Amino acid sequence: MRERLVAHSMIRGTVKPPGDKSISHRALIFNGITDGKAIIENVSIGSDVNSTIRCIRKLGVKVEKSFDSNGELSISIRGSGSKILNEPTNILNAGNSGTTMRLLTGLMSSQSFFSVLTGDKSLRSRPMGRIIEPLNRMGANIIARDRNSRPPLVIIGGTLSGIDHFSKVASAQVKSAILIAGLFANGKTIVREPFQSRDHTERLLRAMGAVINSNQAIVSIEQSEISAVDIRVPGDVSAAAFWIVLAICHSNAEIKVNGVGINPTRTGILDTLKNMGANIIIENIREESGEPVADIIAKSSSLEGVTVEGAMIPRIIDEIPILALAACFANGETIIKDAKELRVKETDRINTLVSELTGLGAEIQELNDGLIINGKGHLNGSTCRSHGDHRLAMTLGIAGLLTEEETIVEGAEAAQVSYPHFWNDLRNLIKTHE
Ligand code: S3P
Repeated sequence: MRERLVAHSMIRGTVKPPGDKSISHRALIFNGITDGKAIIENVSIGSDVNSTIRCIRKLGVKVEKSFDSNGELSISIRGSGSKILNEPTNILNAGNSGTTMRLLTGLMSSQSFFSVLTGDKSLRSRPMGRIIEPLNRMGANIIARDRNSRPPLVIIGGTLSGIDHFSKVASAQVKSAILIAGLFANGKTIVREPFQSRDHTERLLRAMGAVINSNQAIVSIEQSEISAVDIRVPGDVSAAAFWIVLAICHSNAEIKVNGVGINPTRTGILDTLKNMGANIIIENIREESGEPVADIIAKSSSLEGVTVEGAMIPRIIDEIPILALAACFANGETIIKDAKELRVKETDRINTLVSELTGLGAEIQELNDGLIINGKGHLNGSTCRSHGDHRLAMTLGIAGLLTEEETIVEGAEAAQVSYPHFWNDLRNLIKTHE
């Protein structure tokens, strides 16, 4: 699918982003291993979370979907109980979703049955050694393609023992896979990270009754039974980021994004854009299901370049594509470093960002672990490609509203991985008169 975009003189409106993808996966998987029933509201409608739904159904979890008049997805889920998940009768397919694959591998390591997990071409190229090694050390028996490093994964689960694991990368997927296995393991399981990654697993497991302690980059869990909880999933800050950057880079824009999750382990993009001089107002801060939520207003701004590195990187990792676009409209240089993880996301995002933004006339340089962008204040229209990466498709869509000539985004359908109504929301923000 191709989307054609042209610049518009005015951008105005209010957006409700889809439910948070990370929290949706966890709400489904964790409730799926209780022996109770829960209602999960505002679940992400993207294909990634649908992959989790498909897989847990094959493990025996009962999932019923219903959509309300606003298109919000509610799920009624009845767990199968941690000890009675079914051995799947066929290969499980996680599609494009790294979170589905890594979290379910942690879960299936604890189940004394045979299972095989695969995914699409992108997911099959992503590194899994980072979960296979610690889970095998806990007592699982996982083997994988490419010398135990890439999917498909064959998992024979069983009795596990706690470990003390230092993960070289700050990754919430790695941390969560080990913590889920730790729920079933004898003794204590500890995960240490170089910097704290997103903490949705810790918050939710604690709310469900797990014995879990966390001190920023160190988390420990003990064998626990968890109970079902009803959850309202906050809006996805990673989706909101596209509209915030559109508003601040456009010369005549104001966008309000309602009901956005503002968990501090996820809001590096808001802090960084504010450091660049962005006009962003965060209001109506409240708490929903143990996560902070707010409404965010963003307006046309004058931006300065910035350096992003170290502990900030895990807090902004999924927003670096849209940050790179914002940097093209800032004065001066933006440097992004310590972000080698970008190379093993849905695409090698350092590489795909450099090739696509260069095609739009950006001055952007590739580093081994990041990017240097020299903001020129404008981009040219052109034809660009998503490479099948949802965040790149949406970044290029926003770029298309900021370029003077027409921009064509090829592979625009990739947005459905996390934000199926992205292109509709985008069209609704274009105003032709006051
Ligand atoms: C996620 C963690 C991050 C992030 C991904 C979602 C999660 O990945 O990039 O989009 O839900 O745990 P890593 O754990 O690989 O950093």
